[in-house]
Amino acid sequence: MTGDLFAALGAPDAGRAEPLREGAVVLRGFALDDAPALLAAVARIAAASPFRHLETPGGRRMSVAMTNCGAVGWVSDRRGYRYQPQDPLTGQPWPAMPPLFGNLARRAAAAAGYADFQTDVCLINRYAPGARLTLHQDRDEKGYADPIVSVSLGLPAVFLFGGLKRTDRTRRIRLEHGDVTVWGGPARLAFHGVAPLAEGEHPATGPCRINLTFRRAL
Ligand code: SIN
Ligand code: FE2
Repeated sequence: MTGDLFAALGAPDAGRAEPLREGAVVLRGFALDDAPALLAAVARIAAASPFRHLETPGGRRMSVAMTNCGAVGWVSDRRGYRYQPQDPLTGQPWPAMPPLFGNLARRAAAAAGYADFQTDVCLINRYAPGARLTLHQDRDEKGYADPIVSVSLGLPAVFLFGGLKRTDRTRRIRLEHGDVTVWGGPARLAFHGVAPLAEGEHPATGPCRINLTFRRAL
């Protein structure tokens, strides 16, 4: 895995790549060219399946607003976390994943050393100032052979990236508009989170940050 990663980092498509730990890398600016089209697609998706603040199994309202596109979507409620084919808000299937999304996810995964990433879900998170995501692992997927590809748009955020134990030391990495983070292999179940978003205004998104995370859920 590491060999692939460092070989891939030399590829012209890789942009400025910063290894985080074995299996994890930030591809600086990788999604910059696609950002306007990604944000236009997010607006279309949110018109069909609106952003909403999900409830945690413990009964708390998440500060991040969320929607999905793809074959399934990630949801949380009193019954727990899961992927499901229908949006519980609309009763309809989630909006289809635009080809651009799958294409970008695949190219970013390849640049990080993970060939042939086939994503079937994109979680779309919207952070207003103050919104945060506490340390967690992405572990509701059926398997962990595929990486997570995470695209940052709009306001910058401080991404927290730790180890395989919740108590492992976390690194704080500033993610900017267009940055793509990929973690898989030995880092697939790394704990990660997002520090409370600072106030600000971004030309592409206004006063918020949008994050797309691509996974293979099924
Ligand atoms: C996530 O952990 O699913 C999202 C991470 C982020 O917003 O950067
Ligand atoms: Fe996550």
